[in-house]
Amino acid sequence: MQQQHAAATPRFPHLLHSGDYNPKQWLDAPEILEQDIALFRQANINCVSLGIFSWANLEPQKDHFTFTWLDHVIDRLYENGIVTVFSMPSGARPQWLAPEYPEVLRVNADGTRNLFGARHNHCYTSPVYHERVQIIDTALAKRYANHPAVILWHISNEFGGECHCELCQQVFRDWLRKKYGTLDALNHAWWSHFWSHTYTDWSQVHSPSPLGETSIHGLVLDWRRFVTEQTIDFMQVEIDAVKSVCPDIPVTTNMMTHYTYELNYYHFREALDMISWDNYPEWHKPGSEIWAAESCSMTHDIMRSIQKKPFLMMECTPSATNWQPVSKLKKPGMHTLSVLNAIAHGANSGQYFQLRQSRGSCEKFHSAVISHTGTANTRTFREVAETGRILQALSDRVYDSVTPVQTAIIHDVENKLALDQCKGPRNAGLDYFGALQNNYRYLWKNGVPVDLVDSTYAFEEYQLVIAPMLYLFRSGIQEKLRRFVENGGTLVTTCFSGVVDETDLCFLGEDTPEKLSDVLGLWVEEIDSLYDGEANRMTWNGKSYALTELCELCHPTTCEVFVTYASDFYAGMPALTKNSYDKGTAYHLCASAESGFFLDFYVALTRTLGLKRAMETHVPDGVSLSLRESAHEKLVFVQNFTDTSQTITLDQPYRDALTDVAYTAAYTAAPLSCGVLAVEKTADERRR
Ligand code: GLA
Ligand code: ZN
Repeated sequence: MQQQHAAATPRFPHLLHSGDYNPKQWLDAPEILEQDIALFRQANINCVSLGIFSWANLEPQKDHFTFTWLDHVIDRLYENGIVTVFSMPSGARPQWLAPEYPEVLRVNADGTRNLFGARHNHCYTSPVYHERVQIIDTALAKRYANHPAVILWHISNEFGGECHCELCQQVFRDWLRKKYGTLDALNHAWWSHFWSHTYTDWSQVHSPSPLGETSIHGLVLDWRRFVTEQTIDFMQVEIDAVKSVCPDIPVTTNMMTHYTYELNYYHFREALDMISWDNYPEWHKPGSEIWAAESCSMTHDIMRSIQKKPFLMMECTPSATNWQPVSKLKKPGMHTLSVLNAIAHGANSGQYFQLRQSRGSCEKFHSAVISHTGTANTRTFREVAETGRILQALSDRVYDSVTPVQTAIIHDVENKLALDQCKGPRNAGLDYFGALQNNYRYLWKNGVPVDLVDSTYAFEEYQLVIAPMLYLFRSGIQEKLRRFVENGGTLVTTCFSGVVDETDLCFLGEDTPEKLSDVLGLWVEEIDSLYDGEANRMTWNGKSYALTELCELCHPTTCEVFVTYASDFYAGMPALTKNSYDKGTAYHLCASAESGFFLDFYVALTRTLGLKRAMETHVPDGVSLSLRESAHEKLVFVQNFTDTSQTITLDQPYRDALTDVAYTAAYTAAPLSCGVLAVEKTADERRR
């Protein structure tokens, strides 16, 4: 059984109920700070994020610092029991920096340099920008590291984007030279002689551009890897600045939902002490209410898996955003439910953008804990306050608890990037995230804890490893999967796996998926693509399931073929197989199956493997169970994402962790609500 280590904000070991606070907007009205503090206390806010986007107020002119206004804010909050997450301001620059140092402004893929404006508009390579950021970060760290209110450094804000300036091109070429050594090796890895694009001088290498090269897939993959490394290097400059002043305060940076496909967040795991992310699902969208809950829970699980320990939900909106195509209000109950959903999947906080609604500029309509009314007399404020009360009540029981995981889904960012550009069987769309979510759904609903890790993680600790559509095999993954099965693990693979190597070169030979054909007991010859709306079918345990998008044509060698295609010229060929290999078992699903198949398949598989669930019970649709465990008790989060009450039969007596009411036979969750049911561990469970 894998046990994850709890995260720590050692200076303040509690669940955080917090948010971005930008008091610099109200410096001419000092009474606002005092009103806000009173309202924060009423809303059970125990922490704020300060400093974010405040560079112009902290260094209004070059090397001229004005920190006293911030001293006052931090002091007044702390006197009122509210601690600070200190955010370094590098996400947006002051006006003075750009005219003096034009190189800090970002260059687009088409070669145009941006003007000053917006945020995240900087070159990650520019030595000048590194220096200016180091100066302001060091000054801030020196000023605030010893303030007892400061519990965490928050580096910048939502790193993202890329720069194509000449400085960046140069560093990219150096990075490639280090990786490949010679141009011959690079030309081979990128197969650049195809179309006569052979490089004969390093200076010819240029980042991918709509005006230039995008046809060399190895170049595109390496550029994306470089952008991640370059972003981490930049972040490291900031981390070094604060750590050189105070190594004890942990650092984090806030990540974004699906941005993990622009930056490979798994690679951030060494540089940061804690993972945090900003969670903005489209709640209440007709037809995808439950899908949103699943996909957002899956992202929470991704974030927990990066370091395999609790994370922070650094931002979510108290009600509506102002930037989604339709920015909808959260219905009553949804806010508390969505924060507890994060906690259920391993978060140690509910934090908001924003604590007080701004009056002007581009986020003036984004909701906030304190709205333009300036009072506590709003539905949003009341629900936030109630959420804070719940977090406070749960804090001691949850803070040190862990997610007991036995299953992993391989979620590989490089694989996704390669699939996106593969120019292969289905350019109409290969929904990698959807493939992950199909495999995740049953586990999510039934409270079977699951990690989502990439190919570089160790698998020994898991009993079940699911590798959906793992088209790109990163070096060594085959051996790891083979060893996992040899040692008794159960592996699930699906179609279009093990096709290309790390630089997007196709594997050669009949050992397909690459060097795993004996583990799966089959080899793959062809893959058929289906038009949208077209389907083949298979029947398993008396039920028929649609197969869409991709259908692989495989030849069994040692595997048991227990389901076959129903139609087309490959009728009768394997659709689902099982192979015993050494001490373990490998299943292979040859086609993209409809979602209902995965629900039935994982009922059977988790039972066969005896995987631990949050509770042994039937879970109604739209309800999800999650489990967190401390040394002595189990907490089951019963999350009802539907707008009707839902009842589950209990497998043993529980006590409500919030009200202490005992439930023996059944528990009913109100619409859009989350119950937290506690049960003491048995002596046996404590030992494990
Ligand atoms: C992001 C940013 C915040 C704010 C919110 C609005 O997550 O980090 O500064 O712009 O979006 O939802
Ligand atoms: Zn640049």
